[in-house]
Amino acid sequence: MTTLLGIETSCDETSAAIVADGKDVRSNIVASQVEVHRKYGGVVPEIASRAHIECLDAVIEEAFEIAACAYANIDAIAVTNRPGLVGALLIGVTAAKTLSWVWGKPLVAIDHIEAHACSAAIELDEPPWPAVSLIASGGHTSLFRIDDPTSIALLGATTDDAAGEAFDKVAAILGLSYPGGPQIERIAQDGDPKAIDFPRTMLAPDSLDFSFSGIKTAVLYHVHGHGRTSGGLEKLSRQDIADIAASFQQAVIDVLVRKTMLAIRHSGLSTVVLGGGVAANRALRNALAVACDERDLQFHAAKMDYCTDNAAMIAALGHHHLVNGDVADLDLDTYATGAVPRK
Ligand code: KG4
Ligand code: ZN
Repeated sequence: MTTLLGIETSCDETSAAIVADGKDVRSNIVASQVEVHRKYGGVVPEIASRAHIECLDAVIEEAFEIAACAYANIDAIAVTNRPGLVGALLIGVTAAKTLSWVWGKPLVAIDHIEAHACSAAIELDEPPWPAVSLIASGGHTSLFRIDDPTSIALLGATTDDAAGEAFDKVAAILGLSYPGGPQIERIAQDGDPKAIDFPRTMLAPDSLDFSFSGIKTAVLYHVHGHGRTSGGLEKLSRQDIADIAASFQQAVIDVLVRKTMLAIRHSGLSTVVLGGGVAANRALRNALAVACDERDLQFHAAKMDYCTDNAAMIAALGHHHLVNGDVADLDLDTYATGAVPRK
């Protein structure tokens, strides 16, 4: 039995959580900075770091309070130290190191993307491994083979934009506010997903890598006219915008589902798990559920609360590393990029 404090500050959510045994979430506090960054159309790193400093102490305190857990009763502190905005990561890592030293508790370093990759296991009775894990977030789109939460291999990744980044950029093209994913999903409900045949970039036939920059440009030219980057939006009706949103969303989902099924064929595994911010998209969850059902595969999507950035997934993965004796020193550093090796 373990109880971990998790701390997550890699981007624009300040989060702390208390999780028991790597899956029972006692509290998961998330302070979102979306409103602070909205007027800039995206996350401003320096503002994100400052906002983390302002609210992290209160968020950690609330996590202990909601969990009815005393500081002395945790076994370790798990913190995201990669990948992310280095200045933002530094706030969480400094807090975690300080608490680790003051309370005399071990420190566990967590890769944020590995935590997303394992997030579907949170609150499951039985662990879903081995599985193919699809992660679609604002900064990453990756397929992993997970044999165990401490044995994760990268099968494929985006060669340019991430899926969430494409949602955010297409939302900006359509005049929708940041973050774009939830806005596109909302508007797409009134649109026809077959209205426009946007490209489904598959790269080489057997490739498990992704590319989403082409579809973003295709939407840009569809809105403004070929080779043009402005002047077209005013001419579109509400229905036109809904059709573009629905067709774009469908094209991204088709690629994500096809590549995941290809990874299943390559790996010979029979379980798919889904995580990351874009996993909050109901059309994607449904499409993957249907594809898995048709092939008699097990499918587990991360619960909604554990899709976008949260500390519960950090504490959950921290449990497995702690049990493995994988503990960090107080000279732990932060890194902008991830560390998962390609298979
Ligand atoms: O995992 P996440 O919270 O942060 C990163 O680690 O990047 O993912 C944020 C991304 C954003 O690009 C956001 O637009 C996208 O997830 N997102 C969605 C939805 N909710 C969030 N994309 C599509 N549909 C959604 N419902
Ligand atoms: Zn994330």
